[in-house]
Amino acid sequence: MLAVAVLAAGQGTRMKSALPKVLHTIAGSTLIERVLQSCRGLHPEEWLVVVGHQSELVQESLSNWQGLNFVRQSPQLGTGHAVQQLQEVLNEFQGDLLVLNGDVPLLQPETIKQLLETHRSKNANATLLAARLTDPEGYGRVIANDQGRVKAIIEDRDCSKAEKENNLTNSGVYCFKWNQLNKIITKLSNNNNQKEIYLTDAIELLSETFYLEVKDPNEVKGINNKMQLAECEELAQKRLRNHWMTEGVKFILPSSCTLTDKCVFGKDVIVEPQSHFRGKCEIGDSCKIGPNSLIENSKLEKNVTFSYSIANESYICSDVKVGPFSHLRPGTHISTKCKIGNFVEIKKSKVDRETNINHLSYIGDSVIGKNVNIGAGTITANYDGVKKNKTIIGDQTKTGANSVLIAPIKIGSRVTIAAGSAINKDVNDESLAIARPKQIVKNKLHESD
Ligand code: UD1
Ligand code: CA
Repeated sequence: MLAVAVLAAGQGTRMKSALPKVLHTIAGSTLIERVLQSCRGLHPEEWLVVVGHQSELVQESLSNWQGLNFVRQSPQLGTGHAVQQLQEVLNEFQGDLLVLNGDVPLLQPETIKQLLETHRSKNANATLLAARLTDPEGYGRVIANDQGRVKAIIEDRDCSKAEKENNLTNSGVYCFKWNQLNKIITKLSNNNNQKEIYLTDAIELLSETFYLEVKDPNEVKGINNKMQLAECEELAQKRLRNHWMTEGVKFILPSSCTLTDKCVFGKDVIVEPQSHFRGKCEIGDSCKIGPNSLIENSKLEKNVTFSYSIANESYICSDVKVGPFSHLRPGTHISTKCKIGNFVEIKKSKVDRETNINHLSYIGDSVIGKNVNIGAGTITANYDGVKKNKTIIGDQTKTGANSVLIAPIKIGSRVTIAAGSAINKDVNDESLAIARPKQIVKNKLHESD
């Protein structure tokens, strides 16, 4: 039997932020989500999250997670005090309790699995994950012998000068035999520099405690401030890019690009410098993205070229060319083989196949047919000052340069709109619409006239 408990009640004072620490994000996921995710594969019988500071916010952020049991810690008197709060809910529980700090976001599932296996094979009362850090400052130091037995953990603030030299650090990830921990957890005192009840003191009170050293110390980096947040972001980004490169994505300058762990890329995608993916993105085979692009919560089918542009909540079908300098806003759907060009903004609109919107246009709340040519500077005037109105354009229609289509309006198929027209009445199929003042040319007369 296994129970997992994540400690997420602290404020994270050192973050200097209105947001609770565990709700800061790395590669698009909150710290707490990432910690929970790293344990998912263990399929524990019990999921516990200790919440306290802004507990509603933390709980709400995890509303998509099934089966979480939130335990309140109020006030927050330390990590040992946080675990004391579990006594009631684990009253009947027989088995191992995996405790993780909520601010250790780079843990790999494999490492946690190894910790559990070590713990069980040694029949230990407690096993903790430790790391040898070049700069151990701020971390609890693990006092252990050569056989991996742990005597105690001393917090950085409570270390003597000599103890500070020890670079074997506590990562804040532990496995306990619950019935053993349960016996001593109330005995912890707050006799330390911070006057907090430390979970780390439980180690000294338990016999048969061991540590497992992580191979990659980066995995157990904890986050206490914004510098550590940025360091972890960088590591997470590198990890993601490396993963996708092994899956066949080509990054021209990897370090200049960012993604999230909810992005999926096909084969032979090329990502040019300064391209960024946010939220949940799906990028099909052979797409070419960038340079200088931002794609957010969007799907691109295969072979889309997307340069110097932005897309948010958009769907782009195969073989479409977007950019340079296009802005596709939420609700945009572009069908196959369209060309969306220079300085074009599209919002909440459906564009059918092989249509070109190539220069300087705004298309909003519109449905545009197949093989349409939207001339340079064509604007859908969708807002009448009160509400947004629809523009509908049929197949093979051509709009002249600088035409304004004043919505609500329906333009038929195979229509030609004359350049410079302001169209405010529906236009039937196969007609020419001209709506502009007639040109007047006057001969230049003598100045006195
Ligand atoms: C803790 C460990 C330290 C270890 C380090 C690893 C203790 C006493 N120290 O220190 O040995 O090297 O993590 O990163 O455990 N929390 C609560 N309730 C509280 C206090 C904290 O739930 O009353 C939660 C926090 O939200 C956080 C986690 O526990 O997610 C760790 O707390 P934090 O204050 O960051 O501990 P550290 O000082 O980093
Ligand atoms: Ca910490």
